[in-house]
Amino acid sequence: MTLLERITNKVTWADSLQIMKRLPDKSIRLIVTDPPYGLNYNDGEDLAKIRERAFGGDKSKMKPRPIEGDGEVEALELFKKFLIEAKRLLTPNGGCCCCCGGGGPKPLFAQWTLLMDKYLRFKHAVVWDKGGLGMGFHYRRNYEFMLVAQRGNTCIWNGGNTTSNVFRLGKIIPSAEQHPTIKPIELMEHFIRLHSNEGDTILDPFAGSFTTAIAAIRLKRNFICIEKKLAYVKIGRQRIKNEISQLKLF
Ligand SMILES: C[S@@+](CC[C@H](N)C(=O)[O-])C[C@H]1O[C@@H](n2cnc3c(N)ncnc32)[C@H](O)[C@@H]1O
Repeated sequence: MTLLERITNKVTWADSLQIMKRLPDKSIRLIVTDPPYGLNYNDGEDLAKIRERAFGGDKSKMKPRPIEGDGEVEALELFKKFLIEAKRLLTPNGGCCCCCGGGGPKPLFAQWTLLMDKYLRFKHAVVWDKGGLGMGFHYRRNYEFMLVAQRGNTCIWNGGNTTSNVFRLGKIIPSAEQHPTIKPIELMEHFIRLHSNEGDTILDPFAGSFTTAIAAIRLKRNFICIEKKLAYVKIGRQRIKNEISQLKLF
C-alpha cells in the first residue's frame, strides 16, 4: 500500500510538510486549508480566552492554547514551504483555497496573495462575511478571506454564473473543548463544492480539528488531512467518528 493510500480518508497525526514531500506529483485535486495566520496566538491569546474576558467568565478555565507555527515570521515561512509542495501535488486544473485573516495592521493577506500568485496562479479573494460585529479596535473584524489560486490556466468551477465573491456565514466562537480557531463546516463545504467533484481527493495539511475532512465526507470526496498537535487530532478523530455514525443512521 502506498503512503497516499494509507493516509486517504484517515486522521493523520504528523508534520504535514514532511508528509507532503512524500506524496506523488499531481495526486491532489483541491487543497482547502486554514494555515496558522501568523497572528501570534502563540502568546497564549485565543478567541475563547478573549470571549471569557469580554463576558467576565472564569478565566481560570481558559488555559492558553497556542497554535503551532503561528509566529509572524514562522507562519510566513511555513506558508512558502507549503506552497512549493502544493504546486507539485496539485493536478493541472487543481485549486487551492486558503483561509486568511483580513484587515490590518499586518498586511498578511497581501503577502499570502502574492505568494499564491508566485507559486500557483491567483484566482480570487473571496470575502467570508461573518455578520454581526466582530472583535477589535476601530475597525472591528467582521470578515476573513478565502484566498483562491489554481494550478495552470483554469480550475474546476461548479458555481455557474450566480456565485458571489462574498460568502455570508456566521462564525463559531469556540468553547474550551473545541479547536481555538475552528472554522464552520459549511465554509469548507462551499469551496469544496465549487472546485471539485465527487470522488476527488481534498488535502488539508493544517487540519486542526478536521473540519475539512467532515466537509469532504458530507460531499462524498476523499480527504487527506494532517495535523501536528495530538490534542486536536483526538478532537478530530471523535468528530469524524460522530459524523460517520450519523451518516449510518440515515
Ligand atoms: C488555524 S488552525 C486550523 C483549524 C481548523 N480549520 C479547524 O476548523 O479546526 C491551523 C492548524 O495547523 C496546525 N499546524 C501548524 N503547523 C503544522 C504542520 N507543520 N503540520 C501539521 N499541522 C500543523 C496547528 O497545530 C493548527 O491546529
